[in-house]
Amino acid sequence: TGRDRVFSGVQPTGKLHLGNYFGAIQNWVRLQEEYNSLLYSIVDLHALTVPWEPALLRQSILDTAATLLACGINPEKCFLFQQSQVPEHTEFSWILGCLTNMPRLQCFPQWKVKNASQNYEGSVGLFTYPVLQAADILLYKSTHVPIGEDQVQHLELTRDIARCFNKKYGAFFPMPNAILSSTKKVKSLRDPTAKMSKSDPQKLGTVNITDSPEEIVTKFRKAVTDFTSEVTYDPDTRPGVSNLVTIHAAVTGLSIKEVVHQSVGLDTANYKGVVAEAVIQKFAPVRSEIKRLQEDRSHLEKVLQAGAEKAKELAAPVYQEIRRLVGF
Ligand code: ADP
Ligand code: NA
Repeated sequence: TGRDRVFSGVQPTGKLHLGNYFGAIQNWVRLQEEYNSLLYSIVDLHALTVPWEPALLRQSILDTAATLLACGINPEKCFLFQQSQVPEHTEFSWILGCLTNMPRLQCFPQWKVKNASQNYEGSVGLFTYPVLQAADILLYKSTHVPIGEDQVQHLELTRDIARCFNKKYGAFFPMPNAILSSTKKVKSLRDPTAKMSKSDPQKLGTVNITDSPEEIVTKFRKAVTDFTSEVTYDPDTRPGVSNLVTIHAAVTGLSIKEVVHQSVGLDTANYKGVVAEAVIQKFAPVRSEIKRLQEDRSHLEKVLQAGAEKAKELAAPVYQEIRRLVGF
């Protein structure tokens, strides 16, 4: 309907991988046909919640833009922008932070895990980034937020903050709803109990959209399976081969049942080759389009600038009203 507005973000913290594609980007592309007002943000402020290299971050922002465009994100149908180019995100985040209790943030797994597992003290930014996420969403009075299962708790916080704000200042924000990804979580090829992730220390576990055919073949060949050679789907007892089946189904658009049926008689070693080949085929055109776009840095910058200008046009009147409500 006319009031529906979609917001989603991706961190420019490294190359985008199959998990990002099937868990997020593919849905973003589909939603362009279903909604009229969409904001897709490269959330560079969020990328500062873990240690970063300025030159790599700058490159990553443009690479992420190139990848999203090559995958079918169309700036005619959505606003694609770099979060830090709309400073209202940070300002609004401060206001929301002052409306959020510390204990509410202490229970977030990202804080607990990253704070405990890395060789540095967790920053204030890492602690409060769910509040920045709430600001990202609410700044545009977004009604729909495509997310993976791992983000449900975060969206719940956004809803709580919106309720709190509305209670204080009158019904202002609509309650944002999750659009949950239907694809099962893509797991690391090297540790199929963990999700495929940009920050996986096992580089061979993560297949990037930009990987060469040779890299894709190698990564699948080294995928962890088990001592049974048949192809079956049972994530609890056979997480490795089941992850291959999940990827195969996602790449071909077939159901889990259909790909398992197709693969009767293959042993897991051959099956790895089949899935690798399907991934190579699917992403070959995307990969060459990414390369083409990466060569035109100024075009990418222009796309992001135009997106930021349009995002600002939406944010400015909302933020003006927020300033008035809180008493500025
Ligand atoms: P990463 O976890 O690799 O750093 P992000 O946190 O930037 O990736 O996630 C961007 C989007 O991709 C989110 O919507 C997230 O739910 C989705 N996503 C990330 N990893 C996976 C995965 N392994 N399987 C499915 N979706 C994923
Ligand atoms: Na992450």
